Amino acid sequence: MEGERKQDWWKNTVVYQIYPRSFQDSNGDGIGDLPGIVSRLDYLKELGIGAVWLSPVCRSPQADNGYDISDYQDIDPLFGTLGDMDTLIKEAEKRGIRIILDLVLNHSSNQHPWFLEAKKSKENPYHDYYIWRDGKEGCPPNDMRGVFGGSAWEWVPEIGQYYFHQFTVEQPDLNWENPRVREDIYKMINWWMDRGIGGFRLDVLDQIAKEPDKKITRNGPMLHTYIKELSSRTFQRGDLITVGEAWGATIENAPVYSNPDGSEVSMVFQFEHINLDQQPDGEKWDLAPLDLVKLKAILEKWQKGLYQKGWNSLFWDNHDLPRIVSRWGNDKEYRTESAKMLATILHGMQGTPYIYQGEELGMTNVKLSMEQYQDVETLNMYKERKERGYSTESIMQSLYAKSRDNARTPMQWDDSENAGFTAGTPWLPVNPNYIEINAASQTGDPDSVFSYYKTLVGLRKEYEILAEGDFQLIYREDPDIFAYVRTLGNQKLLVLANFHGTKVPFTVPAEFDSQGEKGGIRTLIRNYPDREPGILRPYEAFMIFAEL
Ligand code: GLC
Ligand code: CA
Repeated sequence: MEGERKQDWWKNTVVYQIYPRSFQDSNGDGIGDLPGIVSRLDYLKELGIGAVWLSPVCRSPQADNGYDISDYQDIDPLFGTLGDMDTLIKEAEKRGIRIILDLVLNHSSNQHPWFLEAKKSKENPYHDYYIWRDGKEGCPPNDMRGVFGGSAWEWVPEIGQYYFHQFTVEQPDLNWENPRVREDIYKMINWWMDRGIGGFRLDVLDQIAKEPDKKITRNGPMLHTYIKELSSRTFQRGDLITVGEAWGATIENAPVYSNPDGSEVSMVFQFEHINLDQQPDGEKWDLAPLDLVKLKAILEKWQKGLYQKGWNSLFWDNHDLPRIVSRWGNDKEYRTESAKMLATILHGMQGTPYIYQGEELGMTNVKLSMEQYQDVETLNMYKERKERGYSTESIMQSLYAKSRDNARTPMQWDDSENAGFTAGTPWLPVNPNYIEINAASQTGDPDSVFSYYKTLVGLRKEYEILAEGDFQLIYREDPDIFAYVRTLGNQKLLVLANFHGTKVPFTVPAEFDSQGEKGGIRTLIRNYPDREPGILRPYEAFMIFAEL
């Protein structure tokens, strides 16, 4: 139709997130790198994903594992060279995979040449690339705190001013009010687009329009003006997937970010379902019991709220979050069943699913000793909570549940030393369960978690109803069952799961009763070999398709 946008390729694909540091080391220094990723592309091709999001690989002092960038147009030597990046883009393309770069635009590293200039003097042309306020030494402009602890203001004696940083001291916030900052950013993004990058993940996108004088960090008044300008000057030139990380996304503002007219980004990561295990007034470390009825209500709200008004991203895991099978599943006796169950529910919804490396193997959380943890947020939290008088025991319980290092232990490739991740000493210990949980033992096994994910990825390409069907939650108040029906024309899809490790009485609704696979009704996937009439077994899940 005239003027209508062509079908966006990212609506029928699944994205795989790689945390490069922990994926595959190629040179024995214990740190994953780009040549390592290239050597594993066939594994990703087999899984069937259409794009890979790489956590940051640009030049960085690594104060926050690359989320502190000192050169946006170069690769950090830890990970390789620009030449290696070109190779990765080319080799991935041969396998039908696009590369998504992680753009950290809210802040740079304090070692970025812009910041080094900015702190030379107030007259320096780069001074206004950052956010400076007078205050008095020892007395910051206000009491704002950084996300990883401490004041959000840092004093620079040479200048006699404070600079603003929402994250660590090494991550000064860029000043988006300054048009020269924005122009430099657009130039950089266009340069990456010309190199063949297939999309961007925008780090803390909702925080770029901060107004520290009003203590505003997320969803600042200028936010959507900035994003529209950014998008029109860069992304709209190409056929990209763009996804903004937005802890401040709500069902009211998400349709603005992900407007189908393409004026901002393809979609955002929202975190309402992720925050469910946190005490309402607490920090992420203050755990609350999980409540399935609440989870269902939140996901229903997003499914219905963005239908034909925007686009959802679907994810359980990323490099900042604990492993889903250890969170909502059972990472011991029902690890395989619960990993598959959680995948079924996520991949049955409308939106673009994301798989975080190792999730497709059912990788679990880890318990490290305090000396082994590496993550800056974890280390800061430990220090702060110690000072505030928390017991070591309670701190460790929070870290076992929520430390970002849970997601960052090396990828478990096989049962050889260090799980095949490195010939050297891994930068973060490998989870000792790699002997049992690893890719080599799963890729050829039709009953493995890996094969299950592979099937799900394939279904999304094959069944339009997964991308386009509407969403109807059923059994809303049931404390054990998560079930919904997708509808598209005369097709229906039932996605159903027992979220718990107990048996639950249950009868399949007549219109989906596929015992014997009657004409027009078929089971697309299930995590038990058969069905037991009248009952759902622990973590049992399936999808039934019906054509009426
Ligand atoms: C995002 C990233 C996280 C990082 C932070 C600061 O939340 O996902 O890893 O520490 O932004 O850049
Ligand atoms: Ca390496």
